[in-house]
Amino acid sequence: MLSLGILISGRGSNMESILKAIKKQKIPINPAVVISNNPDAVGLKIAQKMGVKTEVIESRGFPGSRWDYDKKIIQVLSRHGVTEKNGLVCLAGFMRIISPEFIRKYKNRMLNIHPAMLPSFPGLHAQRQAVEYGAKYSGCTVHFVDEGVDTGPIILQAVVKVKDDDTEETLSKKILAKEHKIYPQAVKLFAEGKIRISGRKTIIKSQGR
Ligand code: GRF
Repeated sequence: MLSLGILISGRGSNMESILKAIKKQKIPINPAVVISNNPDAVGLKIAQKMGVKTEVIESRGFPGSRWDYDKKIIQVLSRHGVTEKNGLVCLAGFMRIISPEFIRKYKNRMLNIHPAMLPSFPGLHAQRQAVEYGAKYSGCTVHFVDEGVDTGPIILQAVVKVKDDDTEETLSKKILAKEHKIYPQAVKLFAEGKIRISGRKTIIKSQGR
């Protein structure tokens, strides 16, 4: 069975939606560990309540390079069975730039959720960017992580209408509700072996195909 490691920094609501879906929908993946770079992340308590192991690798004041830090994460993932052979790593609000070495090690085995319809509005504050730009629609994207900023092959997207009176806060709330749907769906597709990567694209095997 595949083993899942989820990396968080804060609230952990996407992590929670994934963990709930694994239980409820019997997704064939073992939720092995939740790792936070922030000891105060609320998501840690949620994971513990749900019976999932947690680890903190504090990044603040870490003495060493980005790769030194990431090596610690890889050690902990491996210790919990989340390896480059049978692991899946989900970034869920993990507020750190990841080293190319870490990304390459888990190539095609690392997912991220971004709160915009990529390739629009990559980077930080995607919801604010959409409101300020005057976009009529925005949404969210689950994608594989590659070495660029929010550039990896797209797995699933969901659209949200931006109303004239939407603010960064109201839009974020609407997008988050969609995030909680598509991130677990993407994990399910991955765990069931239904995602094939072909260059920049992913081909999703649907039922009956
Ligand atoms: C979400 O908006 C996600 O799209 C972004 O960071 C936020 C994390 O929220 N990458 P949560 O910690 O999952 O509640």
